[in-house]
Amino acid sequence: MLLGIHVSTVVISIILFNIRAYGLVTEAGWRKRRLLLVMPHINDSLLLFSAIAMCFQIKQYPVVNDWLSVKLVFLLLYIILGLLFMRKARSNTQRWWLYMLAMLCFGFIVSVAITHHPLGLMSIIF
Ligand code: HEM
Repeated sequence: MLLGIHVSTVVISIILFNIRAYGLVTEAGWRKRRLLLVMPHINDSLLLFSAIAMCFQIKQYPVVNDWLSVKLVFLLLYIILGLLFMRKARSNTQRWWLYMLAMLCFGFIVSVAITHHPLGLMSIIF
């Protein structure tokens, strides 16, 4: 149940990020609609809430278990990159780099989640 909520909010989060990014780059009028501004906050709160609840469920916690510390740090980085992309980037070049870094961050978090290893999929090589 919790895992289902967590993974669903993860999928919704990346879809919403991409819809908002597309709206911003194309300067679409719909990007400022209230629903699109509010939904990411509700979804991301649910994402974090389900994450915390699952930590208690599996009795593993950030700081204690390094793969969860990595997830938390990269989640914060993903949020910061998203904010810079949406609010501070002044050119499409800047936006492109911030977007790519945010997507890399997200992919890395997923690979850490699946492997339960702080290096994620890179743990296969190193
Ligand atoms: C954007 C951020 C996040 C993404 C993309 C993400 C992704 C995922 C995915 C895909 C899974 C399922 C893994 C599997 O079924 O093998 C998962 C599970 C989990 N995540 Fe996250 N997660 C994020 C943030 C967090 C944070 C911040 C925490 C806690 C600090 C967290 C804690 C957990 C826990 C405890 C599980 C369950 C692992 C298990 O049942 O073995 N997640 N996450």
